[in-house]
Amino acid sequence: MKLAHFSFLPFLLVVLISLIGATFADSHGNFLICLHLRPANSSTNSKVIYMQNNPSYSSVLNAYIQNTRFITPATPKPLVIVTALQISHIQSTIYCSKKHGLQIRIRSGGHDFEGLSYVSEVPFVILDLLNFRAVKVDVKNEVAWVESGATLGELYYGIATKTKTLAFPAGVCHTVGVGGHFGGGGYGILMRKYGLAADHVIDALLIDVNGRVLDRKSMGEDLFWAIRGGGGNTFGIVLAWKIKLVQVPAVVTVYTVNKNLEQNVVKILNQWQYIARKLPNDLFTDVTMTKVNSSQAGKKTVQAAFKGLFLGGVDKLIQLVQDTFPELGLTKKDCLELSWAESVLYFGGVPTQSLEIMLNRTALGRPTFKTKSDYVKEPIPESGLQGIMSRFLEKEADIALMMMVAFGGKMEEIAETELPYPHRAGNLFQASYLVGWTNGEDEGKYISWIRRLYSYMGTYASKSPREAYYNYRDLDIGTNNVGYTSYEQASIWGRKYYKNNFKRLAQVKTMADPMNFFRNEQSVPPLSSPWKKKSN
Ligand code: FDA
Repeated sequence: MKLAHFSFLPFLLVVLISLIGATFADSHGNFLICLHLRPANSSTNSKVIYMQNNPSYSSVLNAYIQNTRFITPATPKPLVIVTALQISHIQSTIYCSKKHGLQIRIRSGGHDFEGLSYVSEVPFVILDLLNFRAVKVDVKNEVAWVESGATLGELYYGIATKTKTLAFPAGVCHTVGVGGHFGGGGYGILMRKYGLAADHVIDALLIDVNGRVLDRKSMGEDLFWAIRGGGGNTFGIVLAWKIKLVQVPAVVTVYTVNKNLEQNVVKILNQWQYIARKLPNDLFTDVTMTKVNSSQAGKKTVQAAFKGLFLGGVDKLIQLVQDTFPELGLTKKDCLELSWAESVLYFGGVPTQSLEIMLNRTALGRPTFKTKSDYVKEPIPESGLQGIMSRFLEKEADIALMMMVAFGGKMEEIAETELPYPHRAGNLFQASYLVGWTNGEDEGKYISWIRRLYSYMGTYASKSPREAYYNYRDLDIGTNNVGYTSYEQASIWGRKYYKNNFKRLAQVKTMADPMNFFRNEQSVPPLSSPWKKKSN
């Protein structure tokens, strides 16, 4: 790619003046000067580079922070935010960060549960892809190109406004960013029929550590394998993804049935565990447990919301559920016939009347929370389920949920090594736990509650390794050291996310980024650390 010159002079003068008095030797100042002296395709402006003294710095930083746990005065802040408008801005950011020893945090939708796309303990720059959000849908060939900074909602809207019979099997919450989501696997309500978002990526554009723009052919199959689930901020910057769309009926059916402790929820949940994985691929089901008010005044109970999406009409669904899971007592009044896109909104808990809400990045609100995940392979006995319920009655669980997402279907048919995401056959369900609190409250007791629940679940969850979902990032399961990262240390958390695929990911990393430039607390390191080599 040929690069023309930035006509940067006026802005450069402002930057230079703002740096007078500061130490020119520091990496921050040098990084900025480097950025402004770099050639690029066109002149840029103050809408691309946000230094801490820019009046818009805080609003740009906070705009895409999904977990408000990481909006506090104590949260480490980036030295600079670069909201790239064109590829050359990204290339310059890589070049100058490398040259002056700053870490890059890539941000697409900002939904990382531990805030790793915008928080770092070492001096860092945020490369924000919010301006890379084009969606191009080709209905005839059933494919689309989507840029990483787009949200799932923007992608779904792009598909739904062209056709009702094509869809994409990705996550439920429409505010999630494509970049991080596809990079970690991405499951949603079409998973039992079609698998993950990453299973349907057929090409991609990646900017590597040397600033080269690579597509599937030029990056090679190993790197292409790694970016489809091997985690973000590791192999390069994925700019855009070419995806294969999937077919859905014009009308699908959704349902919700609520059962609480007084309505035999433990028995019904126990039954669900035995049948959910074996249901036809056209039926996706999940269960969400929360604490709610009981019918007895002043008392609390635990409620399980049994939800489903059926790729067909309501009559067929009712018959199917009556035949396989009569204990649920599903009736027509629990069901709604919708389009697929509307069904995504239904599962996201937002009004289904207008698809425009899919374009609203803040429609889901911004909670303060901590999350963890598990995979469960054997049914939890009723006594075990009772134990979960009693933990939800504790006072720290006022804003808490446990979600059980039934596996089986297509997930049984895809080999563990097909992509880095390994949690395929043999899982009854994925469990995820969330606790929330009011921003500013002492988080300690809530985090301790979710850790106690996780510890309790150790008896029932997968073992050796205790698997976890990468996209439900959890730093409790292990982290890299800041600065020095060994493959052995990273294996502690890496095997939980990737099982035996972790070694292949480290091999690809060794080839793609041997000096471990793209890194964070849970990025796959090269097989042997560059720092270790140097000191030998
Ligand atoms: P963000 O921008 O924070 O990035 C996440 C990670 O990827 C960071 O390490 C980042 O540096 C890196 N990264 C981002 N863009 C990159 C790029 N272009 N190239 C390279 N690296 C990049 N998951 C799921 O599977 N199904 C679901 O239904 C949901 N639902 C859901 C709802 C809500 C409200 C939240 C907060 C999260 C989810 N998730 C989910 C989890 C979600 O898939 C996960 O957090 C994704 O990583 C989010 O992607 P973003 O781009 O938004 O995050």
